Amino acid sequence: MLNQRIQAVKASPTLRFTALAKQLQAEGKQVINLAAGEPDFDTPDFIKAAAVQAIQSGFTKYTPTTGTPDLKAAIAARLLKERGLSYKPEQIAVTCGAKQAIYNLLMVLVEQGDEVLIPSPYWVSYPEMVRLAGATPVELRTDPKNGFQLDPAAVAKACTPRTKVLILNSPSNPTGVVLSADCLKKLAQVAREKNLWIISDEIYSQLSYGTDSPSIATVAPEVMDRTIVVDGVSKAYAMTGWRIGYLAGPKEVVDAASRLQDHSTSNPTSISQKAAVAALTGDQSPIHEMVKEFSWRRDFLVKRLKSIEKISFVEPHGAFYCFVDISASGMKSDPFAEKFLKESLVAAIPGSGFGWDSCVRLSFALGRKDLEEGLNRFDQFIRSV
Ligand SMILES: Cc1ncc(COP(=O)(O)O)c(C=O)c1O
Repeated sequence: MLNQRIQAVKASPTLRFTALAKQLQAEGKQVINLAAGEPDFDTPDFIKAAAVQAIQSGFTKYTPTTGTPDLKAAIAARLLKERGLSYKPEQIAVTCGAKQAIYNLLMVLVEQGDEVLIPSPYWVSYPEMVRLAGATPVELRTDPKNGFQLDPAAVAKACTPRTKVLILNSPSNPTGVVLSADCLKKLAQVAREKNLWIISDEIYSQLSYGTDSPSIATVAPEVMDRTIVVDGVSKAYAMTGWRIGYLAGPKEVVDAASRLQDHSTSNPTSISQKAAVAALTGDQSPIHEMVKEFSWRRDFLVKRLKSIEKISFVEPHGAFYCFVDISASGMKSDPFAEKFLKESLVAAIPGSGFGWDSCVRLSFALGRKDLEEGLNRFDQFIRSV
């Protein structure tokens, strides 16, 4: 018999649909992938070259658990330059992807009976990680009528004596919504009043369009002592497979997360760390090019979706997703996505895994032609159901 902890955890719906789409592709079907959770761009060549150099020079052994000094220095410099955040190297831990950073943080911050506030729609892994840490996820539903913005008063109202952590994710997966500086300032005030830790998942911070995506730690320095910023190279540098993320925050929390990592994965891959140093310190123009292309696709998608009847959506200002309400189809998100995939050969992710069964997540991390074709098929499918 498996333990209770894992029995309470659901399989990732994102991975299930991706697998289904791959199966159809393997059968020779031309599936359009509006389900992608990663940039369709290749990792820039100079980053790959740094990894090759690492291998050839024998940089293939254990490193310090939470990363090499040069990588921590590169992260500190980036956080200062881009977010105006000043961290010492000992306040930074490099992890195997941003995912491990969030997992480690929850493992050291909460215990049985504690509550963690998760604004919804949420990234699929947050509630499951909270459960794995033995605590209780508390969903804070936002409203598409208010642009899925998080209401600080609702956060305050949801707090109980057991509330320990607030998870923020701006820009958001799955909505692409960016929280304003004003909203973040108010949330910071609530966090202080209610004595909450803030895990600020900023993995999409480089990918915003026509707006800045500030960090709560930047706009409200008074919560630096209770905020842990999570970021990484996965999305911004098209490096999802390299598995390099990081957390930055108060030293006591970073030390605790490091102890946990000492006895679980140890260091992230040495070779990937060298690649990440190159990414963070090298020429940033490939990233700017990628953001420019995402911005074009975002505008295209918004325009095209506006021309489709019977759906509604909140315009994304960050990440590479749009969360589209399909409730007028009379279907819940899972049967909708399954039928859409089987009949139209387009993969989209059902909203159920994000705590929102009336929506599907469409990604614009795919080439222009495929994006156009995918949206044409979406239009036709919506008309037919
Ligand atoms: C909101 C959010 N946080 C964290 C992650 C994990 O990032 P990584 O691949 O660096 O572990 C993802 C990946 O999809 C994400 O969407």
